[in-house]
Amino acid sequence: MPSVHKVAVLVGSLRKASINRKVALALAELASERLKLEIVEIGELPHYNPDLEEDVPPAWATFRRQVADADAVLFLTPEYNRSVPGVLKNAIDVGSRPYGKSVFAGKPAAVISVSPGALAAFGANHHLRQSLVFLDMPTMQQPEAYLGNASGLFDDSGRLANPSTADFLRKVMTSFEAWIDRVRK
Ligand code: FNR
Repeated sequence: MPSVHKVAVLVGSLRKASINRKVALALAELASERLKLEIVEIGELPHYNPDLEEDVPPAWATFRRQVADADAVLFLTPEYNRSVPGVLKNAIDVGSRPYGKSVFAGKPAAVISVSPGALAAFGANHHLRQSLVFLDMPTMQQPEAYLGNASGLFDDSGRLANPSTADFLRKVMTSFEAWIDRVRK
């Protein structure tokens, strides 16, 4: 029986009606039984400040433990001003320190960007990839996943409106599963 991989999902939007969060939830259903996706919440993390390492905020400790326990990390990001929302960058900073103790290092990663705009948060997707280089996260390159014009992705009942989107997302998750296998073997 092949092993099951725990995937920490970081969603870069705090909105209740976030499309990125809806995509994350849809992915959890579409992925095979070998991938257990769990959203790790990032909205309550105090802003990163190295001085706080002397008395680590409980929210940082919980977050670091949750990511450390995962086998892989999946990032869902909207685009704010052509980059990654501050809340997601803060989570990355919190997980990356103290120096030498990053909970991200070596973990396989994938990036999916989602925007109601036509450019599909390409800018945020690639800014995020720049950080992942420094975090030393082997990041899946293909298929690239840019979901543009995303306002219509879900119907009124919260389901993916278009079967072709579901097919594409399933393919992304199948590739990510193979990528995790390859990196962790
Ligand atoms: C945005 N939005 C946005 N969209 C985009 O495609 N490129 C951008 O640079 C920006 N910039 C931006 C800045 C700020 C401060 C906000 C609040 C929004 C719009 C953004 O894509 C939209 O709000 C999405 O719906 C955010 O994703 P969620 O919250 O639906 O997951």
